[in-house]
Amino acid sequence: MAFWEHILIRKERASNEMSGHDAALDAASAHVRKLLQEQVQRVERISKPVEWIDYSKLDKLVIGVIGGDGIGPIIAKETVRVMRELLRTELNSGKVQINEIRGLEIERRLKLMQPLPDDVLSEIRKCHVLLKGPTTTPEEGSGVANIESANISIRRVFDLFANVRPVRIPSQGIDWVFFRENTEGEYMLGSKGLMVTPDLAMDFKIITKPGAERIIRLAFEHARKTGRKKVTVVTKANVVKTTDGLFLETARRVAKEYPEISWDGWYIDVFTAKLIDEKRRRDFQVVVLPNLYGDIVTDEAAELQGGVGTAGSANLGARFGMFEAIHGSAPRMITEGRGAYADPLSLMRAAVMMLEHVGMMAQSSKLAKALDICAIYEPRVKITGRQDGGSASQFADEVIATIGDPRLADRWQSFQKT
Ligand code: IPM
Ligand code: MG
Repeated sequence: MAFWEHILIRKERASNEMSGHDAALDAASAHVRKLLQEQVQRVERISKPVEWIDYSKLDKLVIGVIGGDGIGPIIAKETVRVMRELLRTELNSGKVQINEIRGLEIERRLKLMQPLPDDVLSEIRKCHVLLKGPTTTPEEGSGVANIESANISIRRVFDLFANVRPVRIPSQGIDWVFFRENTEGEYMLGSKGLMVTPDLAMDFKIITKPGAERIIRLAFEHARKTGRKKVTVVTKANVVKTTDGLFLETARRVAKEYPEISWDGWYIDVFTAKLIDEKRRRDFQVVVLPNLYGDIVTDEAAELQGGVGTAGSANLGARFGMFEAIHGSAPRMITEGRGAYADPLSLMRAAVMMLEHVGMMAQSSKLAKALDICAIYEPRVKITGRQDGGSASQFADEVIATIGDPRLADRWQSFQKT
C-alpha cells in the first residue's frame, strides 16, 4: 500500500470516530449551556449592591461552632474553652451565645449524600458567624462517594466571597494579608466538570467582573484602612488569558481609585518563588488572587510562619462570616494516634479574626496578644504535632493563663520593635 493510502485510511477512521462522538458532544454542550445560564444569573445576583451586616446593632451575637472531622473536634474544643474564658462576661450577660452544632461529620454527609445536610444548614442560619473545624473532603477514587466539600458548600450558600488569611513573622519583618477570592475560579464548578468522552475530562474556571471587583476592592480597602501602602495582584494572565486576564484588568481599573496605594502584578509561578526569597518577600503586604492560587500560596505562606497549623482564615460575605483553620482535617494524625497533639493555634487565630470582624476589638486584641506570647515570643508549650511536643489542651491552658494576666498588654508590648 502506498504511503498516502495509509493517510487516507487514518483520516477516514478519525472521521468515523468523530461522528460516533456526536452524541457525547451534544450532551456536553447541553450541560455547558445549563452551567452558563446559571452563571449568567449569578452574575446578575452578585452585581446588586448589598449592605454589610452591622454586628454592633445586634442585641445578642450568636456564634455557631462546628467541630468537623479528624483533628477538628479536638482543636475546636480547645478553642471554645479559650473563648468561653475570654467572653465570660458577655456569655453571662447574654450578649453572646455559643451554639455547638453537630451533624456535619463526613460519615453523616456520606450517608445522607448531602455536603451540607439540611438540619445543619438551618442551625447555621440561626447564627451570625460560624467557627468551624476542618471537614474532610472526598476525592475521586477514594472509595467513598465523591460529594462536594462542606466548606465549599457553606462558602457558596452564604456567598462568602472573601477568604482573608494573614501570615506574620515579626522577627523577619513579614506581615502579609492574603485576600483569596473564595467562590469562583476552579471552585465554582469544581464538581460540575465533564467526562466528555471516556478519554476527555474537562473542568471549568470562572471569573466574573463583579466577583473579581468585590475581592480586589476589599483588598484595597483593607490596605487603606490599615495604612498599608501596597497591594500585589497575582495571576497567570499571560497564559490563562481570559479569566485571569479579566481579574488583572479589573485590578488595574480598581487601583485607580486608590492613588495613595501602589500596586504590582505578579505571575503565580514566580510569586510562589519570591515568597521564599528572603530579600524580596518583606515587600509584599496585601496580596489579592483568584481562588486556587490563593489556596496553594496561603498554605505555603503558613508553612513559613511555622506550619499550616498556625494560620487562621476568615471567609467573609456581606451577611455572614465563617472562620476556620486554613488546613484540612489531618486524618493521618488521627490514624497515627497523634490527634491530641494537633496545633489549635490556627483555629484560635480564626477566633481572633471572628471577634475583630464582629467589632469586639478589646477581646480580639487580648486573644491575639496572648497567642503571640504563647506561640511566638515566650512559647512554653511547643507543639510539634507529635508526642515529643505539647498537647492542644496544654496549649489552651497556657493561653487561658495568659489571657488572665493583668500584665498581658505590657508583656506583649515589650516584644514590639521600637
Ligand atoms: C482551604 C481548604 C479547602 C479549599 C478544601 C478543604 C476544600 O484547602 O480552605 O484552603 O480548597 O478551599
Ligand atoms: Mg487549602
